[in-house]
Amino acid sequence: MKVSIFGLGYVGCVTAACLAKGKHEVIGVDVMASKVERLAAGKATVVETGIDDLIAEAHAQGLISATEDGREAVLASQASIICVGTPSGLLGDLDLTALRQTVRLIGQAMREKAERHVVILRSTVPAGTAEEVVIPALHPDRHGPDRLQNSEVVVVPEFLREGSAIADYYNPPFVVVGSATGQPDDNAEVVEALFGGVTEQLHWVPLRQAEMLKAVCNGFHALKVAFANEIGALSASLSVDGQSLMARFVEDRKLNISPAYLRPGLPFGGSCLPKDLRMLVQQASRAGLDLPLLRSVLSSNEAHLKRAIDLVPRNGRSRIGLNGLAFKVGTDDLRESPIVLIAEHLIGKGYDVKIYDQGIQTSLITGANREFIRHHIPHLSSRLVKDMDELIAHSEVLLLTRDDEELFDRIAALEKPPLVVDLRASNPLTKKLLQSRPGDNSEQDFSVWFGDSADGSSDDYLRARPLVIPISSTSN
Ligand SMILES: NC(=O)c1ccc[n+]([C@@H]2O[C@H](COP(=O)([O-])OP(=O)(O)OC[C@H]3O[C@@H](n4cnc5c(N)ncnc54)[C@H](O)[C@@H]3O)[C@@H](O)[C@H]2O)c1
Repeated sequence: MKVSIFGLGYVGCVTAACLAKGKHEVIGVDVMASKVERLAAGKATVVETGIDDLIAEAHAQGLISATEDGREAVLASQASIICVGTPSGLLGDLDLTALRQTVRLIGQAMREKAERHVVILRSTVPAGTAEEVVIPALHPDRHGPDRLQNSEVVVVPEFLREGSAIADYYNPPFVVVGSATGQPDDNAEVVEALFGGVTEQLHWVPLRQAEMLKAVCNGFHALKVAFANEIGALSASLSVDGQSLMARFVEDRKLNISPAYLRPGLPFGGSCLPKDLRMLVQQASRAGLDLPLLRSVLSSNEAHLKRAIDLVPRNGRSRIGLNGLAFKVGTDDLRESPIVLIAEHLIGKGYDVKIYDQGIQTSLITGANREFIRHHIPHLSSRLVKDMDELIAHSEVLLLTRDDEELFDRIAALEKPPLVVDLRASNPLTKKLLQSRPGDNSEQDFSVWFGDSADGSSDDYLRARPLVIPISSTSN
Protein backbone atom coordinates (compact mmCIF):
# COMPACT_ATOMS: atom_id res chain seq x y z
CA MET A 1 0.00 0.00 0.00
CA LYS A 2 1.17 3.55 -0.63
CA VAL A 3 0.97 5.62 2.53
CA SER A 4 1.98 9.17 3.48
CA ILE A 5 3.36 9.84 6.95
CA PHE A 6 3.07 13.36 8.33
CA GLY A 7 5.71 14.23 10.94
CA LEU A 8 9.14 12.59 10.75
CA GLY A 9 10.09 12.58 14.43
CA TYR A 10 10.42 9.45 16.58
CA VAL A 11 6.97 8.09 15.86
CA GLY A 12 6.86 9.06 12.18
CA CYS A 13 10.36 7.80 11.38
CA VAL A 14 9.88 4.48 13.20
CA THR A 15 6.45 3.98 11.62
CA ALA A 16 7.92 4.77 8.19
CA ALA A 17 10.80 2.32 8.67
CA CYS A 18 8.59 -0.51 9.92
CA LEU A 19 5.87 -0.06 7.30
CA ALA A 20 8.51 -0.01 4.55
CA LYS A 21 9.97 -3.21 6.01
CA GLY A 22 6.46 -4.64 5.55
CA LYS A 23 6.78 -3.72 1.86
CA HIS A 24 4.50 -0.70 2.02
CA GLU A 25 5.55 2.31 -0.03
CA VAL A 26 6.07 5.26 2.29
CA ILE A 27 6.14 9.00 1.57
CA GLY A 28 7.44 10.97 4.53
CA VAL A 29 6.21 14.55 4.99
CA ASP A 30 7.64 17.16 7.33
CA VAL A 31 7.83 20.93 7.55
CA MET A 32 11.53 20.71 8.43
CA ALA A 33 13.54 20.59 5.21
CA SER A 34 16.52 18.96 6.97
CA LYS A 35 14.42 15.93 8.02
CA VAL A 36 12.91 15.59 4.55
CA GLU A 37 16.39 15.72 2.99
CA ARG A 38 17.72 13.07 5.38
CA LEU A 39 14.89 10.63 4.77
CA ALA A 40 14.98 11.25 1.02
CA ALA A 41 18.68 10.34 1.15
CA GLY A 42 17.93 7.08 2.97
CA LYS A 43 18.96 8.32 6.41
CA ALA A 44 16.93 8.09 9.62
CA THR A 45 15.72 11.37 11.13
CA VAL A 46 16.12 10.13 14.73
CA VAL A 47 18.65 8.14 16.70
CA GLU A 48 17.08 4.80 17.57
CA THR A 49 18.43 1.25 17.81
CA GLY A 50 18.24 -0.53 14.45
CA ILE A 51 16.53 2.27 12.54
CA ASP A 52 19.46 3.27 10.28
CA ASP A 53 19.56 -0.16 8.66
CA LEU A 54 15.80 -0.33 8.17
CA ILE A 55 15.66 3.08 6.50
CA ALA A 56 18.72 2.41 4.33
CA GLU A 57 17.27 -0.94 3.19
CA ALA A 58 13.87 0.58 2.42
CA HIS A 59 15.54 3.40 0.51
CA ALA A 60 17.63 0.96 -1.52
CA GLN A 61 14.43 -0.90 -2.45
CA GLY A 62 12.74 2.35 -3.49
CA LEU A 63 10.13 2.05 -0.74
CA ILE A 64 10.85 5.36 1.00
CA SER A 65 10.67 8.90 -0.31
CA ALA A 66 10.15 12.25 1.41
CA THR A 67 8.70 15.64 0.58
CA GLU A 68 7.67 18.95 2.12
CA ASP A 69 4.66 18.96 -0.18
CA GLY A 70 1.83 17.42 1.83
CA ARG A 71 -0.74 17.85 -0.93
CA GLU A 72 1.36 15.88 -3.37
CA ALA A 73 1.84 13.15 -0.76
CA VAL A 74 -1.91 12.82 -0.12
CA LEU A 75 -2.70 12.70 -3.82
CA ALA A 76 -0.08 9.99 -4.31
CA SER A 77 -1.16 7.76 -1.40
CA GLN A 78 -4.18 5.77 -0.21
CA ALA A 79 -3.83 6.71 3.45
CA SER A 80 -2.13 9.33 5.60
CA ILE A 81 -0.74 8.61 9.05
CA ILE A 82 -0.47 11.68 11.26
CA CYS A 83 2.54 11.59 13.60
CA VAL A 84 3.15 15.32 14.09
CA GLY A 85 4.22 16.64 17.48
CA THR A 86 1.62 17.60 20.07
CA PRO A 87 3.77 19.27 22.75
CA SER A 88 2.52 20.57 26.09
CA GLY A 89 0.81 23.95 25.96
CA LEU A 90 1.18 26.63 28.62
CA LEU A 91 -1.73 25.41 30.74
CA GLY A 92 -0.89 21.70 30.55
CA ASP A 93 -3.17 21.27 27.55
CA LEU A 94 -1.65 19.97 24.31
CA ASP A 95 -0.62 22.37 21.56
CA LEU A 96 -2.49 21.09 18.52
CA THR A 97 -1.18 23.72 16.09
CA ALA A 98 0.79 21.22 13.99
CA LEU A 99 -2.15 18.81 13.96
CA ARG A 100 -4.58 21.54 12.86
CA GLN A 101 -2.26 22.60 10.03
CA THR A 102 -1.81 18.99 8.95
CA VAL A 103 -5.49 18.02 8.88
CA ARG A 104 -6.44 21.23 7.07
CA LEU A 105 -3.88 20.42 4.39
CA ILE A 106 -4.92 16.77 4.15
CA GLY A 107 -8.59 17.80 3.92
CA GLN A 108 -7.91 20.21 1.07
CA ALA A 109 -5.99 17.55 -0.85
CA MET A 110 -8.67 14.91 -0.16
CA ARG A 111 -11.28 17.11 -1.79
CA GLU A 112 -9.25 16.84 -5.00
CA LYS A 113 -9.42 13.04 -4.89
CA ALA A 114 -12.21 10.82 -6.10
CA GLU A 115 -11.08 7.70 -4.25
CA ARG A 116 -11.37 7.14 -0.50
CA HIS A 117 -8.38 8.38 1.50
CA VAL A 118 -8.03 7.00 5.03
CA VAL A 119 -6.65 9.33 7.71
CA ILE A 120 -4.95 7.60 10.64
CA LEU A 121 -4.29 9.70 13.72
CA ARG A 122 -1.26 8.34 15.57
CA SER A 123 -0.15 11.42 17.53
CA THR A 124 -1.21 11.58 21.16
CA VAL A 125 -4.23 13.89 21.46
CA PRO A 126 -6.91 14.71 24.02
CA ALA A 127 -10.12 12.67 23.83
CA GLY A 128 -12.51 14.34 21.40
CA THR A 129 -9.83 15.60 18.98
CA ALA A 130 -10.84 13.37 16.05
CA GLU A 131 -14.46 14.49 16.38
CA GLU A 132 -13.80 18.15 17.15
CA VAL A 133 -10.64 18.95 15.19
CA VAL A 134 -9.79 16.31 12.61
CA ILE A 135 -13.16 15.44 11.08
CA PRO A 136 -14.40 19.07 10.87
CA ALA A 137 -11.14 20.04 9.12
CA LEU A 138 -11.52 17.22 6.62
CA HIS A 139 -15.22 17.94 6.02
CA PRO A 140 -15.98 21.58 6.80
CA ASP A 141 -19.21 21.24 4.83
CA ARG A 142 -20.64 18.41 6.99
CA HIS A 143 -22.47 19.29 10.18
CA GLY A 144 -24.08 17.54 13.13
CA PRO A 145 -24.11 13.76 13.45
CA ASP A 146 -23.67 13.47 9.64
CA ARG A 147 -20.02 14.36 10.14
CA LEU A 148 -19.31 10.97 11.66
CA GLN A 149 -21.14 9.02 8.97
CA ASN A 150 -18.80 6.87 6.94
CA SER A 151 -15.84 8.78 8.37
CA GLU A 152 -12.39 8.14 6.86
CA VAL A 153 -10.77 8.89 10.22
CA VAL A 154 -9.41 6.27 12.59
CA VAL A 155 -7.26 6.71 15.68
CA VAL A 156 -4.41 4.22 16.08
CA PRO A 157 -2.29 5.47 19.00
CA GLU A 158 1.38 4.59 19.19
CA PHE A 159 2.72 2.82 22.29
CA LEU A 160 6.44 2.71 21.48
CA ARG A 161 9.12 3.78 23.93
CA GLU A 162 12.20 5.60 22.72
CA GLY A 163 15.28 3.37 22.90
CA SER A 164 13.29 0.22 22.14
CA ALA A 165 10.96 1.80 19.59
CA ILE A 166 11.36 -0.76 16.80
CA ALA A 167 11.03 -3.73 19.13
CA ASP A 168 7.96 -2.06 20.71
CA TYR A 169 6.46 -1.40 17.26
CA TYR A 170 6.54 -5.13 16.49
CA ASN A 171 5.45 -6.16 19.98
CA PRO A 172 2.86 -3.64 21.18
CA PRO A 173 0.79 -4.29 24.34
CA PHE A 174 -2.24 -4.11 22.03
CA VAL A 175 -3.30 -2.31 18.88
CA VAL A 176 -6.47 -0.28 19.37
CA VAL A 177 -8.29 1.30 16.48
CA GLY A 178 -10.72 4.08 17.29
CA SER A 179 -13.52 4.48 14.78
CA ALA A 180 -16.68 6.58 14.62
CA THR A 181 -18.84 3.52 15.30
CA GLY A 182 -16.45 1.77 17.66
CA GLN A 183 -16.56 -1.17 15.21
CA PRO A 184 -14.63 -2.14 12.09
CA ASP A 185 -15.85 0.18 9.36
CA ASP A 186 -15.00 1.02 5.74
CA ASN A 187 -11.43 1.81 6.83
CA ALA A 188 -10.86 -1.70 8.18
CA GLU A 189 -9.16 -3.09 5.09
CA VAL A 190 -6.52 -0.32 5.08
CA VAL A 191 -5.97 -0.50 8.85
CA GLU A 192 -5.66 -4.29 8.70
CA ALA A 193 -3.16 -4.07 5.83
CA LEU A 194 -0.99 -1.54 7.68
CA PHE A 195 -1.19 -2.70 11.31
CA GLY A 196 -2.74 -6.17 11.25
CA GLY A 197 0.69 -7.79 10.88
CA VAL A 198 1.95 -6.73 14.31
CA THR A 199 -0.88 -8.18 16.36
CA GLU A 200 -3.19 -11.15 16.50
CA GLN A 201 -6.18 -8.90 16.96
CA LEU A 202 -7.02 -5.28 16.29
CA HIS A 203 -9.25 -3.91 19.06
CA TRP A 204 -11.87 -1.59 17.59
CA VAL A 205 -13.15 0.96 20.09
CA PRO A 206 -14.90 4.36 19.94
CA LEU A 207 -12.70 7.27 18.79
CA ARG A 208 -12.54 8.92 22.21
CA GLN A 209 -11.56 5.71 23.96
CA ALA A 210 -8.63 5.18 21.59
CA GLU A 211 -7.49 8.78 22.10
CA MET A 212 -7.80 8.62 25.86
CA LEU A 213 -6.24 5.19 26.29
CA LYS A 214 -2.75 6.35 25.35
CA ALA A 215 -2.76 9.20 27.88
CA VAL A 216 -4.29 6.98 30.56
CA CYS A 217 -1.52 4.40 30.04
CA ASN A 218 1.12 7.09 30.46
CA GLY A 219 -0.70 8.57 33.44
CA PHE A 220 -0.68 5.15 35.08
CA HIS A 221 2.99 4.58 34.31
CA ALA A 222 3.75 7.94 35.92
CA LEU A 223 1.62 6.97 38.92
CA LYS A 224 3.59 3.74 39.30
CA VAL A 225 6.93 5.57 39.24
CA ALA A 226 5.72 8.08 41.82
CA PHE A 227 4.31 5.29 44.01
CA ALA A 228 7.55 3.28 43.86
CA ASN A 229 9.58 6.38 44.70
CA GLU A 230 7.39 7.32 47.66
CA ILE A 231 7.60 3.76 48.97
CA GLY A 232 11.36 3.87 48.42
CA ALA A 233 11.64 7.08 50.43
CA LEU A 234 9.43 5.75 53.25
CA SER A 235 11.37 2.47 53.30
CA ALA A 236 14.68 4.31 53.63
CA SER A 237 13.33 6.34 56.55
CA LEU A 238 12.32 3.09 58.28
CA SER A 239 15.64 1.29 57.58
CA VAL A 240 13.94 -1.03 55.08
CA ASP A 241 15.54 -1.91 51.73
CA GLY A 242 13.03 -0.36 49.30
CA GLN A 243 14.46 -2.14 46.24
CA SER A 244 14.10 -5.54 47.84
CA LEU A 245 10.64 -4.68 49.20
CA MET A 246 9.34 -3.59 45.78
CA ALA A 247 10.91 -6.62 44.12
CA ARG A 248 8.79 -8.79 46.40
CA PHE A 249 5.77 -6.49 45.93
CA VAL A 250 5.70 -7.00 42.15
CA GLU A 251 5.79 -10.76 42.56
CA ASP A 252 2.13 -10.62 43.58
CA ARG A 253 0.41 -10.97 40.22
CA LYS A 254 -2.91 -11.71 41.88
CA LEU A 255 -3.62 -8.33 43.43
CA ASN A 256 -0.62 -5.99 42.98
CA ILE A 257 0.40 -6.26 39.32
CA SER A 258 -2.93 -7.40 37.92
CA PRO A 259 -6.34 -6.14 36.78
CA ALA A 260 -7.54 -6.24 40.41
CA TYR A 261 -8.70 -2.89 41.80
CA LEU A 262 -8.72 -1.28 38.37
CA ARG A 263 -12.38 -0.99 37.44
CA PRO A 264 -14.41 2.17 37.91
CA GLY A 265 -17.11 1.75 40.57
CA LEU A 266 -17.47 2.26 44.31
CA PRO A 267 -14.92 4.03 46.53
CA PHE A 268 -12.64 1.71 48.49
CA GLY A 269 -13.33 0.90 52.11
CA GLY A 270 -13.29 -1.99 54.52
CA SER A 271 -11.27 -2.79 57.56
CA CYS A 272 -7.82 -2.75 55.95
CA LEU A 273 -7.25 -0.35 53.05
CA PRO A 274 -8.10 2.97 54.75
CA LYS A 275 -6.47 1.92 58.03
CA ASP A 276 -3.19 0.77 56.51
CA LEU A 277 -2.98 3.70 54.16
CA ARG A 278 -3.44 6.10 57.08
CA MET A 279 -0.65 4.27 58.91
CA LEU A 280 1.79 4.70 55.98
CA VAL A 281 0.98 8.40 55.71
CA GLN A 282 1.36 8.82 59.45
CA GLN A 283 4.75 7.07 59.47
CA ALA A 284 5.93 9.32 56.65
CA SER A 285 4.78 12.41 58.45
CA ARG A 286 6.58 11.33 61.65
CA ALA A 287 9.75 10.88 59.60
CA GLY A 288 9.30 14.40 58.18
CA LEU A 289 8.65 12.98 54.71
CA ASP A 290 6.22 14.57 52.33
CA LEU A 291 4.53 11.86 50.27
CA PRO A 292 1.86 13.77 48.32
CA LEU A 293 0.69 10.77 46.31
CA LEU A 294 -0.07 8.52 49.28
CA ARG A 295 -1.38 11.49 51.24
CA SER A 296 -3.91 12.32 48.53
CA VAL A 297 -5.34 8.81 48.09
CA LEU A 298 -7.83 9.11 50.94
CA SER A 299 -9.04 12.52 49.80
CA SER A 300 -9.44 11.15 46.27
CA ASN A 301 -11.58 8.38 47.73
CA GLU A 302 -13.67 10.88 49.69
CA ALA A 303 -14.20 12.94 46.53
CA HIS A 304 -15.42 9.80 44.82
CA LEU A 305 -17.78 9.01 47.68
CA LYS A 306 -19.22 12.50 47.32
CA ARG A 307 -19.77 11.91 43.60
CA ALA A 308 -21.67 8.74 44.47
CA ILE A 309 -23.88 10.61 46.93
CA ASP A 310 -24.42 13.45 44.44
CA LEU A 311 -25.92 10.93 42.04
CA VAL A 312 -28.98 10.54 44.22
CA PRO A 313 -31.47 12.88 42.60
CA ARG A 314 -32.97 15.75 44.53
CA ASN A 315 -36.35 15.50 42.88
CA GLY A 316 -38.66 14.70 45.75
CA ARG A 317 -38.06 10.93 45.62
CA SER A 318 -37.15 10.28 49.22
CA ARG A 319 -37.52 6.50 49.61
CA ILE A 320 -34.12 4.98 48.87
CA GLY A 321 -33.19 1.31 48.66
CA LEU A 322 -29.69 -0.12 48.92
CA ASN A 323 -28.92 -3.70 47.87
CA GLY A 324 -25.97 -4.32 50.12
CA LEU A 325 -24.23 -2.71 53.07
CA ALA A 326 -21.11 -4.70 53.98
CA PHE A 327 -17.97 -3.66 52.14
CA LYS A 328 -17.87 -6.99 50.29
CA VAL A 329 -20.47 -9.51 49.21
CA GLY A 330 -20.58 -12.57 51.41
CA THR A 331 -19.24 -10.87 54.55
CA ASP A 332 -20.83 -8.90 57.35
CA ASP A 333 -17.83 -6.59 57.79
CA LEU A 334 -19.25 -3.09 57.92
CA ARG A 335 -16.10 -1.29 59.05
CA GLU A 336 -15.42 1.66 56.75
CA SER A 337 -17.73 0.20 54.13
CA PRO A 338 -18.30 3.01 51.63
CA ILE A 339 -21.92 1.88 51.42
CA VAL A 340 -22.39 2.52 55.13
CA LEU A 341 -21.04 6.03 54.60
CA ILE A 342 -23.40 6.59 51.66
CA ALA A 343 -26.34 5.33 53.74
CA GLU A 344 -25.31 7.48 56.73
CA HIS A 345 -25.11 10.57 54.58
CA LEU A 346 -28.48 9.97 52.96
CA ILE A 347 -30.16 9.28 56.31
CA GLY A 348 -28.62 12.50 57.61
CA LYS A 349 -30.16 14.35 54.67
CA GLY A 350 -33.59 13.03 55.63
CA TYR A 351 -33.96 10.25 53.05
CA ASP A 352 -35.95 7.20 54.08
CA VAL A 353 -33.26 4.54 53.52
CA LYS A 354 -33.92 0.78 53.55
CA ILE A 355 -31.24 -1.84 53.06
CA TYR A 356 -31.25 -5.44 51.93
CA ASP A 357 -28.07 -7.38 52.66
CA GLN A 358 -28.36 -11.14 53.10
CA GLY A 359 -25.08 -11.33 55.00
CA ILE A 360 -26.14 -9.04 57.82
CA GLN A 361 -27.97 -10.01 60.95
CA THR A 362 -27.72 -7.25 63.49
CA SER A 363 -27.75 -9.72 66.39
CA LEU A 364 -24.51 -11.26 65.09
CA ILE A 365 -22.59 -8.01 64.64
CA THR A 366 -20.05 -7.71 67.42
CA GLY A 367 -16.88 -5.95 68.52
CA ALA A 368 -15.33 -3.20 66.35
CA ASN A 369 -17.88 -3.96 63.66
CA ARG A 370 -20.72 -3.21 66.08
CA GLU A 371 -19.06 -0.03 67.34
CA PHE A 372 -18.56 1.21 63.81
CA ILE A 373 -22.15 0.65 62.73
CA ARG A 374 -23.57 2.03 66.00
CA HIS A 375 -21.66 5.22 65.38
CA HIS A 376 -22.69 5.55 61.72
CA ILE A 377 -26.18 4.00 61.48
CA PRO A 378 -27.44 3.80 65.07
CA HIS A 379 -30.75 2.01 64.41
CA LEU A 380 -29.60 -0.35 61.72
CA SER A 381 -32.16 -3.07 62.42
CA SER A 382 -35.02 -0.67 61.61
CA ARG A 383 -33.34 0.02 58.25
CA LEU A 384 -32.91 -3.60 57.19
CA VAL A 385 -35.61 -5.29 55.14
CA LYS A 386 -36.06 -9.05 55.02
CA ASP A 387 -36.05 -9.64 51.28
CA MET A 388 -35.71 -8.21 47.82
CA ASP A 389 -39.46 -7.74 47.36
CA GLU A 390 -39.64 -5.51 50.41
CA LEU A 391 -36.67 -3.51 49.14
CA ILE A 392 -38.22 -3.02 45.69
CA ALA A 393 -41.61 -2.12 47.17
CA HIS A 394 -39.98 0.56 49.33
CA SER A 395 -37.69 2.11 46.71
CA GLU A 396 -38.37 5.19 44.64
CA VAL A 397 -34.63 5.26 44.03
CA LEU A 398 -32.63 2.03 44.10
CA LEU A 399 -28.87 2.28 44.62
CA LEU A 400 -27.20 -0.85 43.31
CA THR A 401 -24.02 -1.68 45.14
CA ARG A 402 -23.80 -5.34 44.13
CA ASP A 403 -24.03 -7.38 40.95
CA ASP A 404 -27.31 -9.15 41.58
CA GLU A 405 -28.84 -10.75 38.52
CA GLU A 406 -32.07 -11.69 40.28
CA LEU A 407 -32.66 -8.11 41.40
CA PHE A 408 -31.86 -6.80 37.92
CA ASP A 409 -34.37 -9.24 36.42
CA ARG A 410 -37.06 -8.25 38.91
CA ILE A 411 -36.60 -4.55 38.23
CA ALA A 412 -36.60 -5.13 34.48
CA ALA A 413 -40.00 -6.84 34.75
CA LEU A 414 -41.64 -4.02 36.71
CA GLU A 415 -44.19 -1.87 34.98
CA LYS A 416 -43.20 1.19 36.98
CA PRO A 417 -39.58 0.67 38.01
CA PRO A 418 -37.73 2.82 40.51
CA LEU A 419 -34.97 5.09 39.38
CA VAL A 420 -31.87 2.93 39.39
CA VAL A 421 -28.38 4.20 40.12
CA ASP A 422 -25.76 1.51 39.57
CA LEU A 423 -22.85 2.38 41.84
CA ARG A 424 -21.06 -0.87 40.91
CA ALA A 425 -20.90 0.16 37.26
CA SER A 426 -21.37 -3.48 36.32
CA ASN A 427 -21.82 -3.22 32.61
CA PRO A 428 -23.30 -6.55 31.56
CA LEU A 429 -26.11 -6.52 34.11
CA THR A 430 -26.80 -2.83 33.69
CA LYS A 431 -26.86 -3.17 29.94
CA LYS A 432 -29.30 -6.04 30.27
CA LEU A 433 -31.50 -3.82 32.39
CA LEU A 434 -31.34 -1.03 29.85
CA GLN A 435 -32.04 -3.35 26.95
CA SER A 436 -35.10 -4.68 28.72
CA ARG A 437 -36.78 -1.32 28.21
CA PRO A 438 -35.90 -0.26 24.68
CA GLY A 439 -37.46 2.93 23.48
CA ASP A 440 -38.68 3.93 26.93
CA ASN A 441 -38.04 7.63 26.71
CA SER A 442 -40.88 8.71 28.95
CA GLU A 443 -38.76 9.78 31.88
CA GLN A 444 -35.37 8.91 33.24
CA ASP A 445 -36.68 5.73 34.77
CA PHE A 446 -33.25 4.22 34.80
CA SER A 447 -30.31 6.39 35.62
CA VAL A 448 -27.21 4.31 35.43
CA TRP A 449 -23.80 4.88 36.79
CA PHE A 450 -21.89 3.31 34.03
CA GLY A 451 -18.32 2.05 34.03
CA ASP A 452 -15.98 -0.02 31.99
CA SER A 453 -16.36 -3.68 31.23
CA ALA A 454 -16.78 -5.97 34.20
CA ASP A 455 -14.93 -9.24 34.16
CA GLY A 456 -16.87 -10.84 36.94
CA SER A 457 -14.34 -10.27 39.72
CA SER A 458 -15.91 -8.56 42.65
CA ASP A 459 -13.16 -7.25 44.87
CA ASP A 460 -11.76 -4.34 42.92
CA TYR A 461 -11.48 -1.03 44.68
CA LEU A 462 -9.51 1.40 42.55
CA ARG A 463 -11.90 2.82 40.05
CA ALA A 464 -12.23 5.96 38.00
CA ARG A 465 -15.18 8.28 37.70
CA PRO A 466 -18.14 6.75 35.91
CA LEU A 467 -20.87 8.53 34.02
CA VAL A 468 -24.57 8.89 34.61
CA ILE A 469 -26.60 8.02 31.56
CA PRO A 470 -30.36 7.96 31.25
CA ILE A 471 -31.99 5.01 29.51
CA SER A 472 -33.18 7.22 26.68
CA SER A 473 -29.64 7.80 25.46
CA THR A 474 -28.61 4.16 25.64
CA SER A 475 -31.55 2.30 24.22
CA ASN A 476 -29.50 1.47 21.12
N1 LIG B 1 8.29 9.93 21.22
C1 LIG B 1 7.60 8.92 21.75
O1 LIG B 1 8.14 8.06 22.43
C2 LIG B 1 6.14 8.82 21.49
C3 LIG B 1 5.50 7.60 21.73
C4 LIG B 1 4.15 7.49 21.46
C5 LIG B 1 3.42 8.60 21.01
N2 LIG B 1 4.07 9.78 20.81
C6 LIG B 1 3.27 10.90 20.31
O2 LIG B 1 3.43 10.93 18.89
C7 LIG B 1 3.47 12.28 18.42
C8 LIG B 1 4.79 12.55 17.75
O3 LIG B 1 5.81 12.38 18.71
P1 LIG B 1 7.34 12.45 18.30
O4 LIG B 1 8.12 12.12 19.53
O5 LIG B 1 7.56 11.67 17.07
O6 LIG B 1 7.48 14.01 17.98
P2 LIG B 1 8.72 14.78 17.34
O7 LIG B 1 8.71 16.13 17.92
O8 LIG B 1 9.95 13.94 17.43
O9 LIG B 1 8.32 14.86 15.80
C9 LIG B 1 7.26 15.60 15.34
C10 LIG B 1 7.53 15.96 13.90
O10 LIG B 1 6.39 16.61 13.36
C11 LIG B 1 6.89 17.59 12.46
N3 LIG B 1 5.81 18.54 12.14
C12 LIG B 1 5.37 19.60 12.86
N4 LIG B 1 4.40 20.23 12.19
C13 LIG B 1 4.20 19.56 11.05
C14 LIG B 1 3.33 19.73 9.95
N5 LIG B 1 2.43 20.71 9.94
N6 LIG B 1 3.42 18.86 8.92
C15 LIG B 1 4.31 17.86 8.94
N7 LIG B 1 5.18 17.66 9.95
C16 LIG B 1 5.11 18.49 10.99
C17 LIG B 1 8.05 18.18 13.19
O11 LIG B 1 8.90 18.92 12.32
C18 LIG B 1 8.71 16.92 13.73
O12 LIG B 1 9.64 16.39 12.82
C19 LIG B 1 3.21 13.14 19.65
O13 LIG B 1 1.83 13.36 19.76
C20 LIG B 1 3.70 12.26 20.78
O14 LIG B 1 3.08 12.61 22.01
C21 LIG B 1 5.41 9.90 21.03
